[in-house]
Amino acid sequence: MLRVVVMVSGGGTNLQAILDAIDSGKITNASVEAVISNNSGAYALERARNHHIPAVCVSPKSYPDRAAFNQALLETVKQYRPDLIVLAGFLVTIPPEMIKEYRNRIINIHPSLIPSFCGVGYYGLKVHEAALKRGVKITGATVHYVDEGVDSGPILLQKAVEVKEGDTPETLQRRVMEEAEWQILPEAINRIANK
Ligand code: GRF
Repeated sequence: MLRVVVMVSGGGTNLQAILDAIDSGKITNASVEAVISNNSGAYALERARNHHIPAVCVSPKSYPDRAAFNQALLETVKQYRPDLIVLAGFLVTIPPEMIKEYRNRIINIHPSLIPSFCGVGYYGLKVHEAALKRGVKITGATVHYVDEGVDSGPILLQKAVEVKEGDTPETLQRRVMEEAEWQILPEAINRIANK
């Protein structure tokens, strides 16, 4: 059984897709041991509690400096002995110590086809705004391993999504989530769980 810890900052629709995929048997040999957030108000924590999964908040506001927060974050993660850490909309830079400790065991979902619209400053709606501004006809999502860079680790899975006439950043974000993110993130976990 692959022990998974999911890290989240927001609504947690990707987390929900993972939990649903486990419940429906699309993901086998994996269990979510904990959901960790930097944001106590994240609805993702509520989704975890509804599933009777430990929901833990480690907020930077509770620590005197970044180093203390990073240490607390790493200690919290370690408590759950994860085989895999899934960043599902986690808006905090992963501390270098955590990347070192869990090399090739941290994956992230990014809402574009890397190497387009990724790296520093490309998160959330900004990614889709940039895609629309550039006028691409195809965008999508990427699951990649996390290394010391931003969105620079080895790519695991990608899925393309059509940009449609009249799209706004919001409509495009929604389509990328429905057609790509919610599909490939569970699929990546299932592949890792089943080698
Ligand atoms: C997703 O678009 C994901 O790709 C990005 O943050 C968003 C998270 O959404 N990194 P949710 O919290 O899973 O609903």
